[in-house]
Amino acid sequence: MDAIEAIMKRRSVRKYLDKQISAADLDTIVKAGQNAPNGYNRQAVYITAIHNADKLKELEKILKEVAVNLPSDPESIFFKEKWAENGSKLCYGAPTFVIVSAAPNSKFPEMDCAVCMENILVAATALGIASCFINTLFKMIPLATIKSVMADFGVPETHTIHCAAALGYSVETPAAPKRAAANLTIIS
Ligand SMILES: Cc1cc2nc3c(=O)[nH]c(=O)nc-3n(C[C@H](O)[C@H](O)[C@H](O)COP(=O)(O)O)c2cc1C
Repeated sequence: MDAIEAIMKRRSVRKYLDKQISAADLDTIVKAGQNAPNGYNRQAVYITAIHNADKLKELEKILKEVAVNLPSDPESIFFKEKWAENGSKLCYGAPTFVIVSAAPNSKFPEMDCAVCMENILVAATALGIASCFINTLFKMIPLATIKSVMADFGVPETHTIHCAAALGYSVETPAAPKRAAANLTIIS
């Protein structure tokens, strides 16, 4: 699959088969992430891949406990209810979870992590692997409260998590949500 096809085919998938991706495919996917552009070439982005469904279930259980006990402000209540309903399936049942974090010396941490994540998602699509960007979770949980938990799962303690994604094989092929035609100007 070429790059344009992979970009166009990538969709956020929220239902996964109970089938792990191979170590070789994961290696290609993380290398694609490592090859993303990064501000000032500081290479301050770090990829943590949890490629073990049992370990991931453990992490989901811990995070769910934190998430459902967040304060019930109007913004969080919708997600808290969804997470509570969803059992521990914060990653929609995907067997692999990729977390992208930035070291304190990153000049543009959110952007460095986001471009890395996009490479990961597109590379996964090119290999026939489905994905879903999952960011609400880490945006809502104050990172300071889970630093040591995340360190146990391989995220460097001094880093800030900016992006995460589920990876696995899709149960379904979701249609692309319609893109707004109006958000583009070409001056020629
Ligand atoms: C910054 C960001 C955060 C996102 N967070 C979540 C999330 O927490 N949970 C989720 O299911 N999807 C999440 N998504 C996926 C979007 O909902 C999805 O990309 C959008 O609906 C467009 O659909 P598509 O990815 O299939 O094109 C996120 C996407 C981005 C870029």
